[in-house]
Amino acid sequence: MFYKLIFKAVFSKLDPERAHHLVVAALRLGSLLGVTRLFKSHFRQVEAFGLNFNGPFGIAAGFDKNAVLIRPLADLGFSHIEIGTVTALAQPGNERPRLFRLVKDRALINRMGFNNDGAYAVADRLGRLRAKYGDKLPIIGVNIGKSKAVDVANAVADYETSAKLLSPFADYLAVNVSSPNTPGLRSLQEVSALRPILIAVKNQSLGLPVLVKIAPDLANEDILAIADLAVELGLAGVIATNTTISREGLTTDQETIAAMGSGGLSGAPLANKSLEVLRLLSGHLKGEMAVISVGGVETAEDVELRLQNGATLVQGYTGFIYQGPLWARELNRTN
Ligand SMILES: Cc1cc2nc3c(=O)[nH]c(=O)nc-3n(C[C@H](O)[C@H](O)[C@H](O)COP(=O)(O)O)c2cc1C
Repeated sequence: MFYKLIFKAVFSKLDPERAHHLVVAALRLGSLLGVTRLFKSHFRQVEAFGLNFNGPFGIAAGFDKNAVLIRPLADLGFSHIEIGTVTALAQPGNERPRLFRLVKDRALINRMGFNNDGAYAVADRLGRLRAKYGDKLPIIGVNIGKSKAVDVANAVADYETSAKLLSPFADYLAVNVSSPNTPGLRSLQEVSALRPILIAVKNQSLGLPVLVKIAPDLANEDILAIADLAVELGLAGVIATNTTISREGLTTDQETIAAMGSGGLSGAPLANKSLEVLRLLSGHLKGEMAVISVGGVETAEDVELRLQNGATLVQGYTGFIYQGPLWARELNRTN
């Protein structure tokens, strides 16, 4: 309730990316002053791909692209932090504005374009965190993607570089081939292109669990082909899903949506599609591999529904913007 007032009075009046930076600064300060630690809780333990999670619910990739918020996010109740997407080369991302709120739909549209400090800098940061905090850190997933400056044809080596640099400091790796904001990236979801990337990443992974993150816009047969490939290569699981390029089912008016332009849609309007993909995957995999369900999760009931439908773990991002700092705690407490 209090957060809803703050959202209305402050955040909703700010440019969404500025609001994000404000929250990042607040979380870092809160962590430094020990405030976020007051929120710390213990939840039901979940075992997945050999790791023990403090609750099923974690923060999806994109919120902490550069691994600067790992401890405060864990304090707020996220059981795992998927950092990134990190690319081998540091890059600024797309021109601003590139993040838009659809308040009526409890949704976002973004075309950030993998703005991040690059694998060298992020590996260095993670290494220092590991040295300082050791086993006091939450589970850290490292989500890697293709550098914009690298051709799709040379993607394998680019992913390989990131995996090599980041594996020593990760608990699991997520191979992102599903963001709509890097030209050509989603074509890497085709099995013939994906196979060498997953093999290269797995070879550099030091035995860590490797997962692949897919788009919700794929045809069912393509989703199942990726799942079969992942099983064949001995991957730990699939993360479903990334944002959608669809603009269906929105209540925000067409003109406003059109003015926002291209990008991935996330939040409440993605929930049904994401659940559908989860059902398809879990029906096919029958527990052979983990599925991390992400897309439109807002409440503890949503988390429960994903778990009942075969998800091993659940993640969210957009709900954090609309529900505020107690969100993760609430979702993990009742699950
Ligand atoms: C602003 C923003 C940036 C994102 N950046 C990334 C990213 O870098 N890598 C990635 O794999 N997913 C990224 N995502 C997608 C989320 O991880 C998630 O898959 C998607 O938003 C659906 O979940 P949600 O409806 O709970 O937000 C981003 C999402 C948003 C809203």
